[in-house]
Amino acid sequence: MSDASTSQNLPIQSAPAAESELDTALARPPRVLAVANQKGGVGKTTTAINLGTALAAIGEHVLIIDLDPQGNASTGLGIDRASRRYSTYDVLTGEATLRDAIMTTAVPRLHIAPSTLDLAGLELEIGQTRDRAYRLRGALAPLNVATAGMPGFSYVLVDCPPSLNLLTVNAMAAAHAILVPLQCEFFALEGLSQLLKTVDQVREQLNPDLTIHGIVLTMYDSRNNLSSQVVADVREFMGRKVYETIIPRNVRVSEAPSYGKPVLVYDLKCSGSEAYLRLATEVIQREKELCTG
Ligand SMILES: Nc1ncnc2c1ncn2[C@@H]1O[C@H](COP(=O)(O)OP(=O)(O)OP(=O)(O)O)[C@@H](O)[C@H]1O
Ligand SMILES: [Mg+2]
Repeated sequence: MSDASTSQNLPIQSAPAAESELDTALARPPRVLAVANQKGGVGKTTTAINLGTALAAIGEHVLIIDLDPQGNASTGLGIDRASRRYSTYDVLTGEATLRDAIMTTAVPRLHIAPSTLDLAGLELEIGQTRDRAYRLRGALAPLNVATAGMPGFSYVLVDCPPSLNLLTVNAMAAAHAILVPLQCEFFALEGLSQLLKTVDQVREQLNPDLTIHGIVLTMYDSRNNLSSQVVADVREFMGRKVYETIIPRNVRVSEAPSYGKPVLVYDLKCSGSEAYLRLATEVIQREKELCTG
């Protein structure tokens, strides 16, 4: 599905990384970030798609895992339903490996494991099994190294559904860190304490190393005083956990998915694309700080 026009539009590294450099980068296991917030419509999927695209554009090898039965990340990346041969449902029920489900996208270095509506029934299917919370972690384990015909990945972004259900718990149990999109609206902070409590529980019971990577403020409207008040409140409450980058409300961002494209491909110069590129740089910077202690 590679699309030559895409590479012309994206600010892709001009020179390919040297072989040895690439080998070192891919010899490390991928960093797994769960994009989570149980609130609906706050920008989780938009962030997974566009942060993933921006990371790929600056040279990272990225896999997006669509863990939402709505399948918006898959559709937004132009993966039509009929072509989803294996989905994350098949992976979590053990009927397929993650490698089986991974598909290429029109963006170089960006892959996706798509979801289908079946995923809504996962809890009924595996809810009574002992390893139910570790299905995604188990599926990710063989992904650490590049194998024939498949790249290794430096980043895995998991797009979570708007719920603290078994799917989100699987994402949190498999992740190194959580990235929380927060919409700049009146009730932004409502629900955040519940999310943080769930993260604490997952850390205690399932994944002791889990951290909050950061909080990204989304859909900021500079004409609205409320937006800047929300930014001030969230920064006061969460301090340095909040990324410097704020994603503006931008109509190009909301148009792009209906063309099956990330906004960076749809309109690279718009304010939304620029913001997601800045966020990618900040995520990589924060990664360096987290990984060096
Ligand atoms: N920066 C933005 N500017 C304008 N519209 C945006 C922006 N970010 C997201 N949107 C729009 O807001 C809506 C919700 O975004 P998105 O689907 O990313 O949220 P979500 O948290 O994944 O939702 P859900 O909880 O249903 O999975 C979408 O229509 C999306 O196109
Ligand atoms: Mg979503």
